[in-house]
Amino acid sequence: MIKICFVCLGNICRSPLAEFILKEKVKMMNLEKEFLIVSRATSYEEDGNSMHYGAKEILNKNNIPYTNHVAKRLEKDDYNKYDYFVCMDDSNVINTLKIFNTDRYNKIIKLLGDRDVKDPWYTGDFEETYRDINYGLDNLIKKIK
Ligand code: 4NP
Repeated sequence: MIKICFVCLGNICRSPLAEFILKEKVKMMNLEKEFLIVSRATSYEEDGNSMHYGAKEILNKNNIPYTNHVAKRLEKDDYNKYDYFVCMDDSNVINTLKIFNTDRYNKIIKLLGDRDVKDPWYTGDFEETYRDINYGLDNLIKKIK
């Protein structure tokens, strides 16, 4: 089983979007039993909150189902629970590394490789975020399959 944890700053916009979009892609490929997919924050800013309205709206628009989401911060002991920590931007990588202290098994990666998934909390552009995440996920699937 491949265990993936998506990581962003607040865990209310980008990482839950990636979580639910990948869950749907995996379902379409009949690979549900092969994947464990979650998402976490690097901050406590939104701890306990549900997904941002704009994130729910863009999922609805693209017919991606989602369940109740509760924002949660990444904790040090999560390192051994997942195979990949897929970050949205450089600051997520830095903060994830701070939480774990070290990345012995090179589990921390960025969804778009050399580019950041911009934060829609600041840009307000959930369409662009959705496109970037969708593109990144297709590449991620190719890489790990
Ligand atoms: P996210 O967006 O990291 O994509 O979930 C943000 C949500 C909330 C905050 C920052 C980014 N915040 O500072 O509360």
